Amino acid sequence: MSNTFPKDFWWGASSSAFQIEGGWDEDGKGMTVADFNSFKRSDKQADSKVASDFYHHWEEDIDLMHELGLHVYRFSIAWARIIPDGDGEVNQAGIDFYNKVIDRLLSYNIIPFITLYHFDLPYALVEKYNGWEARDCAYAFERYARVCFENFGDRVKYWQVHNEQNLMVRVDERMNLYETDPVKKEKIRAQMDYHMFLAHALTVNACHEMIPEGKIGCAVSSTVTYPMTNKPEDVWSARMNNQFKTDYCLDMHAYGEYPGYYKAYLLEQDLYPKTEVEDEAILKSAKMDFIALNYYRTLTTHYLPADEAHPKGLRQEGMNEVDYDMYGYWKIEKNTNLEASEYGAQIDPVGLRIVLNEYWNKYRLPLIITENGLGMADTLTEDEKVHDDYRIDYMREHIKAIRDAIEDGVEMMGYSPWSIVDLLSSHQGFRKRYGLVYINRTDMDLKDLRRIKKDSFYWYKEVIASNGEKL
Ligand code: BG6
Repeated sequence: MSNTFPKDFWWGASSSAFQIEGGWDEDGKGMTVADFNSFKRSDKQADSKVASDFYHHWEEDIDLMHELGLHVYRFSIAWARIIPDGDGEVNQAGIDFYNKVIDRLLSYNIIPFITLYHFDLPYALVEKYNGWEARDCAYAFERYARVCFENFGDRVKYWQVHNEQNLMVRVDERMNLYETDPVKKEKIRAQMDYHMFLAHALTVNACHEMIPEGKIGCAVSSTVTYPMTNKPEDVWSARMNNQFKTDYCLDMHAYGEYPGYYKAYLLEQDLYPKTEVEDEAILKSAKMDFIALNYYRTLTTHYLPADEAHPKGLRQEGMNEVDYDMYGYWKIEKNTNLEASEYGAQIDPVGLRIVLNEYWNKYRLPLIITENGLGMADTLTEDEKVHDDYRIDYMREHIKAIRDAIEDGVEMMGYSPWSIVDLLSSHQGFRKRYGLVYINRTDMDLKDLRRIKKDSFYWYKEVIASNGEKL
């Protein structure tokens, strides 16, 4: 098999602030929505107070990245470390922390690839005006982004705006969305989504204005939806599920306007957000330089007809917030051709090839994968090893799919799997581990937080050293 990875292909690894840093209130950091939500589960599982304690282990962790041979490290800045209350004074200690991280990465020639917002809105903005519900939040975000560009832009050229806006907006607790009336709730959600689009566009423009050679893009939660059968209605339902959950968001980022089906839905359901006249020019002028995508699994649907009791556009009750069904559109089914992980994700490397082809053919922007990985309850053996062959298999098959996509003609910048070290899973604490490096702690016992390289670390090191030839 030919090795088709370009010479300048970036091999990376990823993380996010609230999942890895800890030090949740140290040196002036404010509380975030992610902290608030994780504290609600503190009696049952790990929370963001210590997480992987990167805040105190950053030197050691970056040394491990160097040992691994990383070209790029994708991580996020905690907005509330830089501006503790979201829109007030800048916290110099927060700037100093990220300066140290960035400089150490650069000393090893590791490119810092920074996400500005990964689920951790400063909680003070929730208290002030319920966060993204207020238009002010978009401008507070732009100001925060400008503080980052001003302080780090001399060294950091690659930026992502929001992590997975398309998924985040569907999860009530991440948006602080507790309205009980279902219609009002969807209206607020659509308004929040719109303000995030506005913030995205303001930030893309600010980056281009402030950072010479700065490159900025979105990070979407990507998937492919397959039709359960070849019935045309099922094919249509699969398209709709994909479009409603991901593509509308990419289209908005790329073209600055909602695609027809989405605009029609918002109008039909009386959910269309409030906008201002100047927005159109802002949204349309913001041109992304690349598309980053997070890819874990695929979905399958069949058509779910609406009826009198279940009008078109109504979500089926009792569904999980991310993969909900919608009357008149789709119903999620299990794909019996795919195996599922211990936590239910349907593993599908071919789907990655499909999605890469789709995005490249549609947007003609270079692509980078900023998350992909397998969450499992790893076991540390008595001789201090983690034999995570299942993770190696998962990564190998996905890397092959990227290679196939490159052979199909897709322009790929790189691959940055989730995650560099074990970190706080957004729902399963430290029971579900994704890291290439094991963190010696459990949910309720911090132990010594020692870093232990897993088998996947050694395997990925070889992959990087051989530019993807040794899989
Ligand atoms: C992605 C998020 O959607 O999925 C990450 O960007 C998250 O923050 C990852 O950790 C895996 O999800 P989970 O729930 O297993 O942690």
